[in-house]
Amino acid sequence: MLTIALCKGKLIEPTLELFVKAGYGAAKPATDSRRLVFPCPEIGMTFLIVRPADVPTYVEYGAADLGVVGKDVLLEQDSDVYEPLDLGFGACRIAVAALRGQASRDRLSSKIRVATKYPKITERYFNQRGVPVEIIKLYGSIELAPIVGLADRIVDLVETGNTLKAHDLVEVGCIAQSTARLIVNRASLKLKHQAVSELVKKLRAACAEPQRFRKLSALKTSRPGERKGRRTRT
Ligand code: PRP
Repeated sequence: MLTIALCKGKLIEPTLELFVKAGYGAAKPATDSRRLVFPCPEIGMTFLIVRPADVPTYVEYGAADLGVVGKDVLLEQDSDVYEPLDLGFGACRIAVAALRGQASRDRLSSKIRVATKYPKITERYFNQRGVPVEIIKLYGSIELAPIVGLADRIVDLVETGNTLKAHDLVEVGCIAQSTARLIVNRASLKLKHQAVSELVKKLRAACAEPQRFRKLSALKTSRPGERKGRRTRT
């Protein structure tokens, strides 16, 4: 039996879709229920539903054998887990943003105040640039901080950019790209090697499927005489 920690929020639906595509049709925890543990004996798995920031902890301590979580969380926490697979979905970036018109404000004489859910990533980024910062740790609605004068900058996830735009904020730097990752407990990798590697293999194949499909459809739609060697974006 494998125990798998899934995070509440935006990643859960694409994660479950991927498991179904990988052949684990019974992987259907009711995401709208209050339950947190979903045993699925038909496929030899139990799913735990936890907060994104807690997924690496469950996996690192072996309370879950595997987990699915954003790279942003892994970069912030630096957990001792194995990360065998980039699942591709949940793509976004960890960006620095400021109020429009204040993007180049020179505050070298004093510390820049930065509001974020990612204090370690933020500290590393500004330290590497030799910029003194005061970090204000928040737990959500980060875009509000510059508007009410709580911070000069924010470091937050940007996906479509709509939330920044809605608050008259502009990106002034990109720290890292993030996508959902599969993580594995180091002991489970050895003690449950067969089950873990079979799951990784099936998920990897399921991740690759849309790409193969797109390549196939590109071949089907190309016409005779069309210039060869032109790359199809996948
Ligand atoms: C995330 C992130 C941004 C927003 C970015 O917030 O913190 O606020 O999504 O998405 P966009 O670029 O597509 O607009 P989330 O919805 O997770 O809520 P939170 O602010 O409470 O963290």
